[in-house]
Amino acid sequence: MLILNGKFITFEGPEGSGKTSVITAIQSFLENEGYDIMVTREPGGIKIAEEIRNIILNKDNIEMDAHAEALLFAAARSQHFSEKIAPALQENTIILCDRFIDSSLAYQGHARGLGIDEVYAINKFAIGNHLPQLTIFIDVPPSVGLQRVFSNTRKVDRLDLETLAFHEKVYEGYKLLIDMFPERIKTIDGTQKVEEVTQDAINTINKIL
Ligand code: TMP
Repeated sequence: MLILNGKFITFEGPEGSGKTSVITAIQSFLENEGYDIMVTREPGGIKIAEEIRNIILNKDNIEMDAHAEALLFAAARSQHFSEKIAPALQENTIILCDRFIDSSLAYQGHARGLGIDEVYAINKFAIGNHLPQLTIFIDVPPSVGLQRVFSNTRKVDRLDLETLAFHEKVYEGYKLLIDMFPERIKTIDGTQKVEEVTQDAINTINKIL
């Protein structure tokens, strides 16, 4: 069993929820407070998982089967967890991770229709029972989030190109997860200004530090 001294905090939300900017702002705030912070992301975070990311998100891979997609996300997660997250947790590090298991449960489990329990099972195989201590869900309606994605400079990927109905299902999936894990997943209003979202997230994180 791992001895975990650090804190594992994940950030979730629909496309265009602004997670990445909020994570960067939280990182500088916490570093100024003297904490040791590691920022990472999924799918990716280390070489093997970034390579898997390129396969999954490549717009040309339109024939990708839903089960293969779920397994690739879980494979990337397994490598990311064992190579980067678990060692950092054994130090006194605070890990801020842009997406984790809840993305698989909402996107593949609920929106793709594979089943939340089924996708949870393959993820348990990948990472055991290592759930984050805290998950911040940045709540932005899918139509608003997608509008942000298509009007800014971020690269549009294969999953962004799904229909609005798919993204509404993702959002519905997240709401189911919030009911399933009320202690772990905390919701923040992502339609506020970035500074306000960041402040709300810092207040929530402070409760577990
Ligand atoms: P990003 O745009 O936040 O970097 O995330 C990449 C895309 O991958 C996004 O559309 C969400 C999707 N995704 C899943 O479908 N399942 C997962 O397990 C993860 C981590 C991401």
